Amino acid sequence: MLLFTTAAELRAYAEAERCAGRRLGLVPTMGALHEGHLQLVRAAAAACEVVIVSIFVNPTQFNNPEDLRLYPRLPEQDAAALAPAGCTALFMPAVAEMYPQPTVLHFDFGPLERVMEGAHRPGHFNGVATVVSKLFHLARPHAAYFGQKDFQQVAVVRQLVADLSFDLELISYPTIREADGLAMSSRNARLTPTARAVAPLLHRVLAQAALRVQGGVGPAEVQQHALAALAQEPQFTPEYFEVADAQTLQPIMGYEAGRAVVLCVAAHLSGVRLIDNVVVD
Ligand code: PAF
Repeated sequence: MLLFTTAAELRAYAEAERCAGRRLGLVPTMGALHEGHLQLVRAAAAACEVVIVSIFVNPTQFNNPEDLRLYPRLPEQDAAALAPAGCTALFMPAVAEMYPQPTVLHFDFGPLERVMEGAHRPGHFNGVATVVSKLFHLARPHAAYFGQKDFQQVAVVRQLVADLSFDLELISYPTIREADGLAMSSRNARLTPTARAVAPLLHRVLAQAALRVQGGVGPAEVQQHALAALAQEPQFTPEYFEVADAQTLQPIMGYEAGRAVVLCVAAHLSGVRLIDNVVVD
């Protein structure tokens, strides 16, 4: 596995591999890799001869400096896990390499980012779109792989790809969960044992809400019930629970045949912000 730390190295490598007729897959990450990331790397390796993984804790997508400071960083452990999963090149740039100058460009995804993560983390998707665009330009992948745990991020990146005509296939994979249902996330590493013990409640609340949606219970009632169930665990501070259209991500008032619904939740658990979602077809 090759290791690059400069944009020039990555660009030259990707260009040469493209010219040699090889298919390139890109898995953008912020490191502290878990099985969810490795699933994406394996999927990329199954479909592409060249698999580039980026590890970059992108400061521009953090609206909370403390969250950025505490974000887990495990570069050696990550590098060791990547080669067996099929990564051919790891890109680990410093902040000054990705942002040699402050960016003035601003992305606005309209209604897509006025809800949920976009509404609660101002500037978050601007930072995501900026860094993902840079990575797409440097690595010029034929396919890019993202996890559906960040459901809104996938929707935003899909919009980015369409609006900027990036010539790549956007591939997303379902959330990987621990045996007790907790969605795998790099932030889980920051949970204390007591917090970790109650963390699966987030998924249980989503699963119960999904059953209510399937049973025809109205969105407002589903939302109220879910927030009340979360509030029963004092360690949790719910931030939002939304019942939304899975395409537009806008909150819905009722159900329509043929339109999938997504249930999205964000909550703080002893200082760690967790998100999760389920899609109900
Ligand atoms: O999902 C993430 O880890 C990040 O948002 C991404 C896509 C790597 C951009 O920094």
